Amino acid sequence: MSESTMKPLVSVQNLCKTYGGEKRLFGGSTQALKAVDNVSFDIEPGETLGLVGESGSGKSTTGRVLLQLEAPTSGDILYKGENITGLSKPTLKPYRRDMQVIFQDPYASLNPRMTVGEFVGEPLEVHKLGGSRREREDRVASLFTKVGLDPSFMKRYPHEFSGGQRQRVNIARAIALNPAFIVADEPITALDVSIQAQIVNLFQDLQDELGLTYLFIAHDLSMIRYLCHRVAVMLRGRIVEIGPCDAIFENPQHAYTKALLSAIPVPDPDIERNRRPLVFDVGANLPPEDAVLRPVGNRHFVLEA
Ligand SMILES: Nc1ncnc2c1ncn2[C@@H]1O[C@H](COP(=O)(O)OP(=O)(O)OP(=O)(O)O)[C@@H](O)[C@H]1O
Ligand SMILES: [Mg+2]
Repeated sequence: MSESTMKPLVSVQNLCKTYGGEKRLFGGSTQALKAVDNVSFDIEPGETLGLVGESGSGKSTTGRVLLQLEAPTSGDILYKGENITGLSKPTLKPYRRDMQVIFQDPYASLNPRMTVGEFVGEPLEVHKLGGSRREREDRVASLFTKVGLDPSFMKRYPHEFSGGQRQRVNIARAIALNPAFIVADEPITALDVSIQAQIVNLFQDLQDELGLTYLFIAHDLSMIRYLCHRVAVMLRGRIVEIGPCDAIFENPQHAYTKALLSAIPVPDPDIERNRRPLVFDVGANLPPEDAVLRPVGNRHFVLEA
């Protein structure tokens, strides 16, 4: 199938999420904050879309609203072309199986009172899958192998693991139900730099093997190039630039994208010594309200007035 006729697996259309703004008891209202402000993108089957931007730019909120862990203020979420916005809990259940999430802090996500084997097998139990207890254990063992953990670790507790191993446990749980789509919200940020590349490789291997589609959230661009097909750059709730990875890295258009790129450390000490990150003054460079994403290249768009 050619790129242009490929149907997206996931789309968000004009997604908005506002916090605050509620009426106060004695008049006035609390300050409203547009955490996600009119965000639209498609993700094709087997594709990885990177979502980058500074802290507070609305990346996690986009992920949570996309998964309907929170309701959007307005806008639509489509899965395989079907509008799934605001579906009731039981109707949403099959989609919940198909769309999983991995969070930044691998320890906080784990349950300290469960063995990691029980933790990975829990979704199979909840969704009444995986057959008998024995069959479920076999399935969990194979999940452990898939994420590079020895199945003999199944009986251990989370505190016995390193950060990288814990994130492997979370990944095993996320793929337990054979999902098609995973939101990975800064899954490597809390890990040692030496471990980060291993986990990025694991994401890639699992994508090749299982045909997974990812929304991969990060606050900088360093690992994005190795993993993502396309990148969306977020600033104060809006996407300011989106395009193929090569276009973003080789031909960035928005000043904020350029600043993010200039902040990536270079593995050459001579270059690194002279590297001067560009300063981006958000306050002075906020995109005007009426700015829209305009095409600047093949599938490459920049927010402009
Ligand atoms: N439940 C909430 N109630 C009120 N405000 C919220 C809530 N969740 C997020 N926000 C605000 O929305 C904005 C976007 O937050 P969000 O967590 O999506 O950013 P982020 O890009 O993921 O940042 P980080 O890189 O720090 O994870 C922030 O200003 C944040 O304070
Ligand atoms: Mg976040």
